[in-house]
Amino acid sequence: MATSIHRLLTAAVVLGTAALISTYSFHNCIETSKDGQRKAFQCVHRHNKTMSAFVDDLPTTTINLTIGVTPVTHIPRDSFVSLPHLQDLRLDRNNLSDIDYLAFHELHELKSLNLSLNNISQLNPDVFQDLSNLTFLSLTNNQLKQLPETIFSTVLELNTLIMRQNLLTNFSAIATSVSHLRNLRILDLCINNLTSLTHTEVTLPKSLTTLYVCRNNLLTLGCKWSFLASIQVLDLSYNPHLPTKAFAGVDLGNINYLRLRSTNVQIVEFLNLSNIRPEHIDFSGTGINNTDKLKDLCKTMQRKKVKYLNKLILGNNGIKTLSNYTLSQCPNIITLDLSRNEFKPTNCLSFLTGQTHIQSFHAEHNVIRSLPSCKVPNMVQFSNLRDLSYRYNRILLVNKYAFYHTPNLQTLKLNINTIAYLDNLALKNLKRLETLRLDNNLLTDLFAKTFEDLSNLKLLNLRNNRISVIFNRTFHSLGKLTTLDLGGNKITHFQPAGFDGLKNLSKLYLDGNNLKEIDPSHYFVFQDRLTVLDLENNQIQFHPGSPRSPFRNLSKLRDLKLSRQQPYGIAVLPDTLFQGLHSLRSLYLTDNKIVHIYPKTFDDLTGLQFLTLDDCCAGVTQLQPGVFKNLRNLTKLTVENMGMQNFSKDVFGNLTQLRTLQLNRNVMQSIPVDALESLPNLQYLDIRDIPLSCTCLNRLLQNYTLTNPRIQVVYLSTLPCLHDVTQKFYKFDGTVCFIDLGEYLFFCTAAVIFLFTVIPLLYVKLYWKMKYSYYVFCAWFSDQWRSLRDEKEKCKYDAFVSYNSSDEQWVMEQLLPNLEGNGSSFKLCLHHRDFELGRAIVDNIVSAVYSSRKTICVVSRSFLQSEWCSLEMQLASYRLFDEHRDVLLLVFLEKISDRQLSSYHRMRKVMLKKTYVQWPGSDCTDQEQAQDLFWNQLRRAMRTGSRLEREEMDQSAAPSKV
Ligand SMILES: *[C@@H]1O[C@H](CO)[C@@H](O)[C@H](O)[C@H]1NC(C)=O
Ligand SMILES: *[C@@H]1O[C@H](CO)[C@@H](O)[C@H](O)[C@H]1NC(C)=O
Ligand SMILES: *[C@@H]1O[C@H](CO)[C@@H](O)[C@H](O)[C@H]1NC(C)=O
Ligand SMILES: *[C@@H]1O[C@H](CO)[C@@H](O)[C@H](O)[C@H]1NC(C)=O
Repeated sequence: MATSIHRLLTAAVVLGTAALISTYSFHNCIETSKDGQRKAFQCVHRHNKTMSAFVDDLPTTTINLTIGVTPVTHIPRDSFVSLPHLQDLRLDRNNLSDIDYLAFHELHELKSLNLSLNNISQLNPDVFQDLSNLTFLSLTNNQLKQLPETIFSTVLELNTLIMRQNLLTNFSAIATSVSHLRNLRILDLCINNLTSLTHTEVTLPKSLTTLYVCRNNLLTLGCKWSFLASIQVLDLSYNPHLPTKAFAGVDLGNINYLRLRSTNVQIVEFLNLSNIRPEHIDFSGTGINNTDKLKDLCKTMQRKKVKYLNKLILGNNGIKTLSNYTLSQCPNIITLDLSRNEFKPTNCLSFLTGQTHIQSFHAEHNVIRSLPSCKVPNMVQFSNLRDLSYRYNRILLVNKYAFYHTPNLQTLKLNINTIAYLDNLALKNLKRLETLRLDNNLLTDLFAKTFEDLSNLKLLNLRNNRISVIFNRTFHSLGKLTTLDLGGNKITHFQPAGFDGLKNLSKLYLDGNNLKEIDPSHYFVFQDRLTVLDLENNQIQFHPGSPRSPFRNLSKLRDLKLSRQQPYGIAVLPDTLFQGLHSLRSLYLTDNKIVHIYPKTFDDLTGLQFLTLDDCCAGVTQLQPGVFKNLRNLTKLTVENMGMQNFSKDVFGNLTQLRTLQLNRNVMQSIPVDALESLPNLQYLDIRDIPLSCTCLNRLLQNYTLTNPRIQVVYLSTLPCLHDVTQKFYKFDGTVCFIDLGEYLFFCTAAVIFLFTVIPLLYVKLYWKMKYSYYVFCAWFSDQWRSLRDEKEKCKYDAFVSYNSSDEQWVMEQLLPNLEGNGSSFKLCLHHRDFELGRAIVDNIVSAVYSSRKTICVVSRSFLQSEWCSLEMQLASYRLFDEHRDVLLLVFLEKISDRQLSSYHRMRKVMLKKTYVQWPGSDCTDQEQAQDLFWNQLRRAMRTGSRLEREEMDQSAAPSKV
């Protein structure tokens, strides 16, 4: 956003100008608001201890603010006065214990305040003073023992007050403090130490309709007749000592939902004593554990003239069986919930005989083991039942006609069981079924008959079973199916007509299977309809140069997931793969060890909005210019840890709609400003964990990130310098880059003249002394050197090979066989083969260079042009010059004249110090012999581990040399 010049970086004495520089980056927060949304900031998982570190650099227009998972303990007075427009403030999950008087001073617009999960044990009476618009306050999970009586005196708009999980004991005091809140609707006091609801002269606000007092230690209610008269939802569960008689003399006439689970209340007695309507009680955990007690309950309800039971909830009662006709005396049940009992046989729901109105039956978390056949003469039919759930049972078998008595089911949930046998005819008759959940079972085979009757099915979930083959015609009658989830199975292939009949399928999930290839003929049935195709985590590989895309007829496809192919990744990504996918909106390719991304690969994806290539590639990746040229609609691109060595306008310059770019964990040392400037809509740039060098190379970048008002650079102030992590990128001193040339020349000339005058003088006076010292030093040095070298180095590899991708063929066909095979057994480290997956590429390079005895550089013209400045070269020559470790071996693939070399200053320096070997080109006469000689030299150089004398190499008649 162009208007958001927010932060005054105090430490900005950059460039020697003392001016304060404004930047679009925040010390501890990330702006998360999108276009047109409210200004929102997230400040989570940071290590600063003071509130001001989070708040100081935020703009005054901030509306949403979350500060969480930080070690902040104290909110000082006036902490947020600079953010007067805050509406939503989340301070949950910190270590707050100390909140000062007027900590929230001047937050007149604040609507929601979340102080959950802190360490607050007391609050100042005036702490919420200015929050006159607050509607939501959560103090969940703190250490509050009591509250000041006047604490809520000014927050008159409060609607929801949550004080769960504290140590509150005095209900009277709480009632007094909220009694004047005329807008309060919800009060949550669960998990405290209340022993009664006794109160003094006060009444609860009339607006209060929901009161939770679960998990306290209530021994009685002790309140006046009308105290709870306005309450509609009351939760008194888990007060194990609360007796039935506590309810005598309390008006519960308005209640429409009451929970009494795990109290000492006797239900039938309670119904006789209270004015509550029985249909409004949740009977879970009230000890109604057998047929007789249930029949008793039903009779009581009949007596109280209840006509309909919208919901009869009987969970957690330890019910094991129910005999036939158990519920026939009950009022008409619409929904019955028997979840979390020990219910075993369903007997085709015969206990429900007489309940013909029932629409929904749930028996989740029970111990049902099988579903019997229900096609028996005179079987009771439940033709109103629409919704049936047996989730979380132990069902192993589903017999034929298991649902014959419930022909009008629309939703059937059999998921999370152990179904190994689903009879071919089990689902017979379910012609109206729309949703079928069979996920998380042990199914191995599906047959053409299994789903034959389900002609209205819209959603079929078969995730996490053990299906290995999809047979012909399995889904042939599912013409209305829109979503098919086959993820997490063991599918290796589909028979040719496996998908036939799925005329309306739009979402297909096949992730987590064992598919090895994509056979385009299968996907023909979906053309023009499929919108989501998930193929993540299979074993798919593509054949290079396959002429046409397997997805070519999926013209409506919007989401395509191809991440994490096992075990070696996709590796080859044909440039035709995404042809024709003009509607694709998101594409996932992470974790795939892709070797090369062709420039044409993404050409057809003109509608793409989101692309992720995180960890996509094998080792170091070079994106080709123009690879993203047609992605004109891309708004978010994540390319984390893909081993990118440079960021250029040629590659990224066409992404005109790009708003979010995540570049973290790549290996470029600089980012050209013109490339950033060519992204006109970029708003969010994440360059954490990139080895940015604090050199003149990045001078402009530093200035840009500090002065641009448009691109938020995430946590800019914490980005370190490559060569010295204690230095920060944003304040490295770039003044030298701009030194006046005249001044520079003056100092140089002065220094030279000085040296020319002084050295001859010294030479004459001290000649012998100097010569002597020199020899002493040399002796000492070579001593040190040898002892250093002789320490048996623990190296994993004999050599790390650094090369340009254009020389890959030579490396693979010549170097590798000759050094790893062919009689010598050197162990080479190649980036695409040996880099550890998932690890940051920088780490991989550093550890490769340091855990290899040598670094072989394969020098060619393209190498010089592109990689001479690469990280591995720098590291290896650093070891040569600074650590005096002789690790570099240069192999010249082409003849490169002195003149061409002259611009590579550091290379010449290495060559003067070092031997190098020249690959005999094709113009050489005795080519074979020359090559043999070459390999011998190279092996010897690797084996000795020491410096080979230049002369020695010369004598061995190197075929040709620079
Ligand atoms: C308040 O914080 C708690 C704890 O992190 C969280 O679970 C809850 O969703 C938050 N509520 C709101 C409304 O922000
Ligand atoms: C509970 O609070 C009320 C009103 O604030 C007070 O009168 C009473 O003494 C308190 N009871 C206890 C046990 O502290
Ligand atoms: C797939 O699409 C191409 C053109 O986009 C068309 O020529 C071909 O017939 C289609 N294939 C099928 C099986 O429909
Ligand atoms: C730094 O950036 C500002 C604003 O983009 C520009 O005006 C100024 O010239 C830049 N300074 C240098 C030294 O590039």
